[in-house]
Amino acid sequence: MSDAIESHGLTKRYGETQALAGVDITVPTGTVTAVLGPNGAGKTTAVRILTTLTEPDEGHATVAGFDVRRQPHEVRRRIGLAAQDSTVDPILTGRENLIMLGELHQLSRRRAMARADALLEEFSLTDAGRRQVSGYSGGMRRRLDLAATLVAGPEVLFLDEPTTGLDPRARLELWGVLDTLVHNGTTLLLTTQYLEEAERLADDIIVVDHGRVIARGDARTLKREVGGDTVQVVVLDRDRVEETAAILARVTGNEPVLDPSNRMVRAAATVGLDAVLETAAALRAAGIAIEDLSVRQPTLDEVFLTLTAARTHHDEDGS
Ligand SMILES: Nc1ncnc2c1ncn2[C@@H]1O[C@H](COP(=O)(O)OP(=O)(O)OP(=O)(O)O)[C@@H](O)[C@H]1O
Ligand SMILES: [Mg+2]
Repeated sequence: MSDAIESHGLTKRYGETQALAGVDITVPTGTVTAVLGPNGAGKTTAVRILTTLTEPDEGHATVAGFDVRRQPHEVRRRIGLAAQDSTVDPILTGRENLIMLGELHQLSRRRAMARADALLEEFSLTDAGRRQVSGYSGGMRRRLDLAATLVAGPEVLFLDEPTTGLDPRARLELWGVLDTLVHNGTTLLLTTQYLEEAERLADDIIVVDHGRVIARGDARTLKREVGGDTVQVVVLDRDRVEETAAILARVTGNEPVLDPSNRMVRAAATVGLDAVLETAAALRAAGIAIEDLSVRQPTLDEVFLTLTAARTHHDEDGS
């Protein structure tokens, strides 16, 4: 399988700010990659370079098989971009915007109108489509932005924080539209600050912070990287919490956390399932009755916080 996006060693500096410090991204054709990172991580900068809007200082990148620096026109013909800021014309109606874009992409007026109506329907904008965009809510405008990127049927789609500002229902709807696109062969790179979104949509997740890739892999791999699972026991008899803690400490080799008022003990375990089985056997041998015994993986939020915690400075939030 070929790669729809490939970049090596991308760097970009704005004055004192190293926006990108050597980023490699590979997205196989027909797959979805999420670039995840806090404010100022360099997500938009990476998207701007890959979509030929900004030149990198160093490194190189190809999109749909063409070099973003030397063949920007070839790249642009094959991609769609929903930028972080809206790019539709507020003076026109939603429908007029889409028809204009279709005509810019060499569709006949009739085909452009048909395409516009189909997209308005897909994004639940059929009624709003007749109104001027200046009167749209933020979420409606966002949906129109996304519809606009699809007018030309791009091979590779870039979405910079596509669901920021959408309500939960609109977000679900958008996820559904993206599923269909990917099912039909579109390659997708999206940026997001929502871990849930990355996990739901992406085959691969790239975590960036301060212009560097600090982790990558699928959701499972990332969770594993941050340290193992947590084993948790709730005993029936409060007086046996201490004993249970000693068992968990022995089985996992880690310091347990005690919560006597809830009759609960938990500890980190590298292989959670093994630890659960061993704990169960040891508890039974000791005659300790339990109400609940469980193992859970870290959530992606915990992964994200662990990965970025040491590096994130609050002075970069901007205004
Ligand atoms: N045109 C520019 N001029 C000066 N500095 C810039 C410019 N574009 C980006 N930067 C800086 O580069 C860094 C990365 O910015 P970028 O917009 O890529 O981050 P981001 O991950 O998209 O953040 P956000 O989540 O807020 O959209 C930031 O420190 C930002 O201030
Ligand atoms: Mg951004």
